[in-house]
Amino acid sequence: MIVGGARPNFMKIAPLIHELKRKSRGFGWKLVHTGQHYDYEMSKVFFDELDIKKPDYFLKTGGGTQSSQTAAIMTEFEKVFLKERPDITVVVGDVNSTLACSLVAKKFGGRIAHVEAGLRSGDLAMPEEINRIVTDSIADFLFVTEKDAVVNLLNEGKPKNRIFFVGNIMIDTLLYGLKKIKTRKMKWPRENDYAVATLHRPANVDDAKSLRKFLGVFREISEDMKVCFSVHPRTAKNIKKFGLSKMLSGSNVEILPPLSYLDFLALWKNAKLVLTDSGGIQEETTFLGIPCLTLRDNTERPITITQGTNVLAGTDAKKIMRAYRKSFSGKSKRKKSPPKFWDGRTAARILDILAREARV
Ligand code: UD1
Repeated sequence: MIVGGARPNFMKIAPLIHELKRKSRGFGWKLVHTGQHYDYEMSKVFFDELDIKKPDYFLKTGGGTQSSQTAAIMTEFEKVFLKERPDITVVVGDVNSTLACSLVAKKFGGRIAHVEAGLRSGDLAMPEEINRIVTDSIADFLFVTEKDAVVNLLNEGKPKNRIFFVGNIMIDTLLYGLKKIKTRKMKWPRENDYAVATLHRPANVDDAKSLRKFLGVFREISEDMKVCFSVHPRTAKNIKKFGLSKMLSGSNVEILPPLSYLDFLALWKNAKLVLTDSGGIQEETTFLGIPCLTLRDNTERPITITQGTNVLAGTDAKKIMRAYRKSFSGKSKRKKSPPKFWDGRTAARILDILAREARV
């Protein structure tokens, strides 16, 4: 049973589905969408663009607090689990759906495969960090994107034979997307230099002072080049709630809605710079060698710094502006070769391992 729930999950389940269609390896499978994300732009458009079939189950669990949302996903997923009794539940990433469905599956004696296991930010104030730690503590198959994650899991006492370094499944989708956009008319064509910005972490956007600071940074950078700011629903709600809508008016910051996977890819792949607090975008920009300033104080994806184009710019406005200037001083890091196993074959590796280890 393959589970997805929120926007960053869909590009991680798509390659598994494509690969299962190509070669089933004896697996029957069902797809569950927990409904954590439900807007067209946050969910269905990814199914359409990435050729993911309609889910067998769509649960209505979106919105609410951390606890009420997690509880709703558990309650609804339990019904599906009991009906289908899957041998293996495949969860991806670190969102509340990942945690909730893992807990349900394990309590009924199911086996869990966690794709993107072992990443650690060391920051327990992030709900995702709690989701990662708990999911990995009960998962049977720990599929890992980078070597640092193997070390984290071993340090936590996970047995070696449960850890599988398979590479980054998002790169499977990135390569798929790059092929698709070749023949597609883009929605947001650009000619001059521009930056792309995204921001949605609760720590950054749920506090008025913090959100105002980031909008100020985008405004300042937009004096040099256009900043295309794709606004997440959480951030949009807060900009309105805190009365910050006027902060960007008259500036060279262009407000965009949440973009589809392919529209966003077409936009950031030609950007001069990406500013983000997303996890996945740090990895994607590393793969294509686009400079990325991460607007956080930590990252669970250290390989994007040691081997990639990512710079941890922090959350202090002055520090971010210093990192921004440095990124154009000629000293910025350019692409070397992509990290090991970020090659478009990760889904195949995962399914080969599951077919072998799970003795299907
Ligand atoms: C979730 C994930 C985060 C991921 C992010 C990507 C957790 C803990 N967090 O955060 O790791 O990076 O998704 O987007 O799982 N909303 C809509 N429409 C939607 C989805 C959400 O309006 O389609 C609103 C919700 O009602 C809520 C807010 O956006 O008010 C936040 O949604 P939620 O799923 O709680 O968390 P994200 O901030 O999206």
